[in-house]
Amino acid sequence: MQATLHQLRVFATVARHRSFTKAADELNITQPTVSSQVKHLANILELPLFEQIGKQLYLTEVGEALLGTCRDIFDRLENFEMQVADFKGMKQGKLRLAAVTTTKYFVPRLLGSFCATYPEIDISLQVINHQQLIQRMTDNEDDLYILSNPPKDINLEIHKILENPLVVVAKSDHPLAEKHNISIQELNGESFISREAGSGTRRAIQELLNKHKVAVRVRLELGSNEAIKHAIAGGLGISVLSQHSLFAKELESELAILDVREFPIERYWYVAYLSSKQLSTIAQTFLEYLLEQSQF
Ligand code: PGA
Repeated sequence: MQATLHQLRVFATVARHRSFTKAADELNITQPTVSSQVKHLANILELPLFEQIGKQLYLTEVGEALLGTCRDIFDRLENFEMQVADFKGMKQGKLRLAAVTTTKYFVPRLLGSFCATYPEIDISLQVINHQQLIQRMTDNEDDLYILSNPPKDINLEIHKILENPLVVVAKSDHPLAEKHNISIQELNGESFISREAGSGTRRAIQELLNKHKVAVRVRLELGSNEAIKHAIAGGLGISVLSQHSLFAKELESELAILDVREFPIERYWYVAYLSSKQLSTIAQTFLEYLLEQSQF
């Protein structure tokens, strides 16, 4: 194949964004250049790499296969660059992390102290919900993943690192805020603020409520734990949140944790990576650093 690395990079960027325009923006080149590079690749292969259906750009089967190959090539090249830096006695390169939303209360801090020790490292941290993280895992986009409830159908190396209890949160003047030992049945019919579909927190709550046949009244769906806290303080309903999201002081006097018997839902955070993945020196160093901070 006579393709250049540059052409492969252009193709992979288009494939990631499913857009020629966004790829051109990211790569700082013009859209006609992007199109001609992709066209050149397709000509070499004598097969189309993309398919336009309506406004949507799809990868063809060979496009998917090429994208997988590109990821392997770029991964290995990047690892090699890091090895070279390592040979020179430097820890240098890129660390790619994806973490579920609730971990934002501790991961950035850990990164802060890690970066202070290794200032030459560039970090990309994607803070996303469970479903989006699983998608990135499937696409082999990152070095390490921090999540609750790791999937069973992906081959992973997993280490438990921290507790992530989920608690019922209400406005501090809610009638149940003064009560103790509340039965979960008392949540029946409560106005509830729920996370978006695809959230791991939402799924854990639903499983517990279903198990006890409790039906809350979902009044509002929000994609952010912070927004949910403000909605609770605004009187829109109760919710269930990671206890870690409540450590910040700003809403402390306005929110109360309800003493519901079946709570907290016991969950844990794990750090995971694909078993097939050869971790870079930097990812390995960060993994060891995380495990040193682990409760387990
Ligand atoms: P979420 O993830 O952001 O998808 O709710 C948190 C979790 O799964 O614990």
